[in-house]
Amino acid sequence: MALYSEKVMDHFRHPRNVGVIENASGVGEVGNAKCGDIMTMYLQIENDIITDVKFETFGCGSAIASSSMATELIKGKPVSEALQLTNKAVAEALDGLPAHKLHCSVLAEEAIKSALKDYYDKNGIAYDAALFPAENCCDHDH
Ligand code: FES
Repeated sequence: MALYSEKVMDHFRHPRNVGVIENASGVGEVGNAKCGDIMTMYLQIENDIITDVKFETFGCGSAIASSSMATELIKGKPVSEALQLTNKAVAEALDGLPAHKLHCSVLAEEAIKSALKDYYDKNGIAYDAALFPAENCCDHDH
């Protein structure tokens, strides 16, 4: 069996929603201390709906595929749904990642959460701090 699914290869070779949103509603940047990979997520939010999302990932193929898939999963969705996106859901949508690459999908979940937190902070929206575990939690294995 190939190490990577066709979906992973497709999103790695043709990543969706790459780029930057100027004056985004929320921006989140996270990094994995171990591998040094960095991901930035930009969200445009109108009336509680994520109307646009773009990302930049300086990282491995799995991180690029994960961020690309994650943007597709949250585009057009309400903020509350995006908040619930887990790295597991991202990996499943990619038809799986090798076990030692699962942490790459964690980066996508964290980048989205970090961008949503930025949106809440910028707009003075109250939230439960427990929704946003300390950033850079990725220096351990998942
Ligand atoms: Fe760093 Fe994949 S090896 S995110």
